[in-house]
Amino acid sequence: MANSPKTKAVLDRFSQIGIIPVVVLNDVADAAPLGKCLMDGGLPAAEVTFRTDAAEESIRIMAEKYPDMLVGAGTVLSPEQAKRAADAGAKFIVSPGFDPAVVQYCLDNDIPVCPGTQSSSEMIAAMNMGLDHVKFFPAELSGGLPMIKAITAALVNLKIMPTGGINPTNVVDYLKCDKIFCAGGSWMVKGDLIRAHDWDRITSLVKEAADIVKKVRS
Ligand code: 3PG
Repeated sequence: MANSPKTKAVLDRFSQIGIIPVVVLNDVADAAPLGKCLMDGGLPAAEVTFRTDAAEESIRIMAEKYPDMLVGAGTVLSPEQAKRAADAGAKFIVSPGFDPAVVQYCLDNDIPVCPGTQSSSEMIAAMNMGLDHVKFFPAELSGGLPMIKAITAALVNLKIMPTGGINPTNVVDYLKCDKIFCAGGSWMVKGDLIRAHDWDRITSLVKEAADIVKKVRS
């Protein structure tokens, strides 16, 4: 099954942006200023995790204020959350694990979805539902780049988004691997910086991350 045009467009943007910031927002008032940091810093994307009550409204605010930004929902654990996220404006759904019900809901409603996987079995199950892009989580603890290379040597058409334990140093080797379409990470949008409203520092960390992508790809 081929990706829908909508999914293809989102996957292309994931690849182009290269690093997807993983965000936990506790206060909806932080959504707009954080969105500005991501736009100004050169990573116009956010995986806003459904771990807080502020997630849904934060997605709505970012999606409305920054229509060009690739705002999606992370930590989506049920079809009901996927629906709420998409209704709020999420352009993609990511989860830490593989739940066929969430994937099927997204496929039925043409919502780009990237489920978390940790093993070749989960990846094959995702592929058999028609996906060719998955998240690998928690990446570093699950074998990191060597594991990704070993699995994709067999699953040759699969592309991976490693997330969990990625940092400005190890991301370079991940991004150099042609089996990896983007990496997810929270290091540039840490909770303490958001709580302190240290938007300058966040913007500069986002810029550094965007520069890594440019450098690896030039
Ligand atoms: C998460 O779910 O919080 C993400 O995987 C981010 O992981 P990180 O904080 O290790 O980047």
